[in-house]
Amino acid sequence: MNVLESKFVQGFIRMATDGNNMGWHERNGGNFSYRIKDEEIEQIKSNLNFESSWSKIGTSVPNLAKEYFLVTGSGKYFRNVELTPEANIAIIEVDETGENYRILWGLNEGGRPTSELPSHLMNHEVKKLATNGAHRVIYHAHTPNMIALTFVLPLEDAVFTRELWETMTECPVVFFQGVGVVDWMVPGGRDIAVATSELMKKYDVVIWAHHGMFCSGEDFDLTFGLMHTVEKAAEVLVKVLAMGGRRQTITPNDFRELADEFNVTLDEKFLFEE
Ligand code: 13P
Ligand code: ZN
Repeated sequence: MNVLESKFVQGFIRMATDGNNMGWHERNGGNFSYRIKDEEIEQIKSNLNFESSWSKIGTSVPNLAKEYFLVTGSGKYFRNVELTPEANIAIIEVDETGENYRILWGLNEGGRPTSELPSHLMNHEVKKLATNGAHRVIYHAHTPNMIALTFVLPLEDAVFTRELWETMTECPVVFFQGVGVVDWMVPGGRDIAVATSELMKKYDVVIWAHHGMFCSGEDFDLTFGLMHTVEKAAEVLVKVLAMGGRRQTITPNDFRELADEFNVTLDEKFLFEE
């Protein structure tokens, strides 16, 4: 099968376009990766180039040895993914040591995978183990309302979780584990990847202060929907703060009732009295 005809590639392209239409991907901002299923690789194997040379990932992901990923290219614009996918995204393979990757398809005008490849792969590794292989999508976006909040709220998991939960009734149902926050760090390297993937052991959402967000999920719909929900919560919170703050809210006991009704466990450490 032609690579561009396969369903996972089409789903990936559609999500890149949707993210761009949300205004989350100025210039080359943001990046995105999908851990490809064995049967999906089998269908396109005859169109992959296994002659390319190996490059260093910049970190070690032994639990992703011999896995295949579809990723956005570094410096490439989300708005161009739909127009010329073969020039803006790539299929890569991780070697048997988990230290190197090579490009099997795509980026046909040159380039390399996203500079956040260490964060993407370390998050994939953590999530593959934590979810028994269910999570396959890692998505990084420059979401403006969340970025704005990181200049105002204390950079603590519990504060962000509780503040975001209080903005919309569905929030604690959608991201019931809460959200993690990474202090400002230099992007693109192993250090920020280690900090992010540590938080991904507990959460599906990690906020990068003054930068954006990372979300993890099983498929494109769930991962995009998660990013959308959290960024919309951030938007509501920005509006509430701009109007002078809350005069009434969803209380800790309301959250407990919600948790019972929707069968989710909400950690009591986020339900502190204010
Ligand atoms: P890339 O173009 O290398 O993916 O970088 C964009 C970005 O958002 C870095 O955090
Ligand atoms: Zn970024």
